[in-house]
Amino acid sequence: MDRHHSLDRQLHVANQRGEHMKIILGVCGGIAAYKAAELLREFQRRGATVQVVMTANAERFVTPLTFAALSGSQVMTSLWQPASTDDGQNFNIEHIQVTQDADVLVVAPATANMLVKMAHGFADDFLSATALAGTIPIVVAPAMNRHMWDHPATQANVEVLRQRGVQVVAPESGELACGMVGAGRLAEPDVIADRVFSVVKRAKDLIGETILITAGGTREPIDPVRFIGNRSSGKMGVALAETALERGAKVIFVGAFMTASVPSQCESIQVTTAEEMESVVLARLPDASIVIMAAAVSDYRVVCPAPEKLKKKESLTLELEANRDILRQVVEQRSAGTIVIGFAAETENVLDEGRRKLRTKGADLIVANDVSHSDSGFEADVNEGILLSQQEEQVVPRTSKREMADHILTWARSAIHLRHSRT
Ligand code: CTP
Repeated sequence: MDRHHSLDRQLHVANQRGEHMKIILGVCGGIAAYKAAELLREFQRRGATVQVVMTANAERFVTPLTFAALSGSQVMTSLWQPASTDDGQNFNIEHIQVTQDADVLVVAPATANMLVKMAHGFADDFLSATALAGTIPIVVAPAMNRHMWDHPATQANVEVLRQRGVQVVAPESGELACGMVGAGRLAEPDVIADRVFSVVKRAKDLIGETILITAGGTREPIDPVRFIGNRSSGKMGVALAETALERGAKVIFVGAFMTASVPSQCESIQVTTAEEMESVVLARLPDASIVIMAAAVSDYRVVCPAPEKLKKKESLTLELEANRDILRQVVEQRSAGTIVIGFAAETENVLDEGRRKLRTKGADLIVANDVSHSDSGFEADVNEGILLSQQEEQVVPRTSKREMADHILTWARSAIHLRHSRT
């Protein structure tokens, strides 16, 4: 069976399984614990079976009996409850056993304390031990006082979890139980359920593909402390990497300077200058089936950067020479099946410039976007653009960089399929 045939079969199986999804719902001790009952009902309405795990503090807010009655099964509350046995009379280690046939662990509400435990690998209660022992996807929906949510410690823990691939359904803004108004309220059940179902049903349609992604802005030294740089944050590249990983691809991430952090599951190679990026990209090109050049590469470098810090003068003239175009070399040196995608970040004539770059660079796809607005493009979390190929022009209206990444990867997957069907 060819690889893409077997992939379609896997997708079919995954979709079928979604209809009989098994969810572990971890409930922590916060005032929003009662809302977990509504969430449980929402999961059931969508056809899922739910196993509830509660922390000791959660039991102070809602009794396990409520969740047992709603879910139709015993609630897991303690690492020390009597162990069950399987058919062969072997003891089940419950916090390990519980994730074996489950599709996803959802922690809602997740307290600040549970985020600390999960971020640092604590396993001193049933829920944190389950999170540590399981290899299934995890979704957390935090709820807490606004100041606790905004605290750098909480934000750092959330960032650690995000980096590890945990999906975080951010709390909503509104009136909080403590009387304050702000971010901290548990997201609505349908919002959490949407995310959970999309995580589990996420098509692993890029299994077997290796995607080389460049991201961030290169820096060209002027002297040991100064450089020519640009405003690229690397967020688009990171969104592409995260999405590609979720869809089953291997990712080689060649990152220049960036503010966003690279997912730990990538093979990450850090570079500074355009020349360094060029040599890494060309060396790794044979490993990749898809190349996405999201980096903002400096067009010029300084001829002979000063060996010592330059001193202030009336005026300074820098001699610059052009960097080679990495994308064009990738197109020339790629093997026949490799898909190459470039970006055109423009401030005017976006469509014309995008079409020109599609023609002159020879890429299979150019993602043209307008970076003249401060709220989309560079540094922002949202993006909008036009996917330009020889065959079609697809407008992607303003959306998150993750959604944009999904569009680009879906295009790449179809292009690969098309090439396979022709050979
Ligand atoms: N690119 C590259 N190597 C360069 C310059 C750009 O690989 N030396 C890639 C970028 O990663 C991006 C695409 O080419 O995918 C377009 O980059 P852009 O800076 O918009 O294009 P330029 O060729 O520099 O065109 P111009 O400066 O005229 O807009």
